[in-house]
Amino acid sequence: MFKGVLFDLDGVITDTAEYHYLAWKKLADDLGISIDRQFNEKLKGVSREDSLRLILAHGQREKDISEAEFQRLAKIKNDNYVEMIQAVSPKDVYPGIVDLLKALKDANIKISLASASKNGPFLLKQMALTPYFDGIADPSAVKAGKPAPDIFQLAAKVVGLAPEECIGIEDAQAGITAIKASGAFPIGVGSAEQLGTDIPVVASTAELRLPFLKRLWDN
Ligand code: G6P
Ligand code: MG
Repeated sequence: MFKGVLFDLDGVITDTAEYHYLAWKKLADDLGISIDRQFNEKLKGVSREDSLRLILAHGQREKDISEAEFQRLAKIKNDNYVEMIQAVSPKDVYPGIVDLLKALKDANIKISLASASKNGPFLLKQMALTPYFDGIADPSAVKAGKPAPDIFQLAAKVVGLAPEECIGIEDAQAGITAIKASGAFPIGVGSAEQLGTDIPVVASTAELRLPFLKRLWDN
């Protein structure tokens, strides 16, 4: 049996992946760079700085942006995003997530956060989910962001486990790659078309029930 579950946050626990997209889209529009939802699939799960690099490269603008301007743009995006998430509340937790967290707690299975977002702890608090988490991997403590495995390795470590003893849950292509590279067992939330046909993928978090996770682990 698995001993831990490593949760991504944005797009797995709540719909903040949409707010990240809206905030990036606004910044890109202001820069005259066109991004759409298809392009956004590449941004999901990716750190703030790496996301901005991808957007600037997409608009062939990476050369004419100074380091100071880069930091200014990253801050504009984050300020806009932080404003959007002030209203996030327990009502915004995706279906089935609280029941799953309760079931995991009852079964003594460790719960850890493996989000690249520096706003993760604030969001858990807003949704009243902090008490469920045995550990939170600090994204500023890892060298490489997703798709590198580091954040999942750290999320397992902070709850005293090896990634091989854990399930990782993700809605992003970069995140699934990171889970696979870490040695944890991946489950995708979204579509197999985006996340791959080689892993279990659920369309809704309501499907993430403990007996279902156990069956996937045993197969
Ligand atoms: C998550 C999201 C990304 C976001 C990253 C950094 O991985 O999926 O869209 O860019 O966190 O978030 P932050 O809140 O620190 O800018
Ligand atoms: Mg995500």
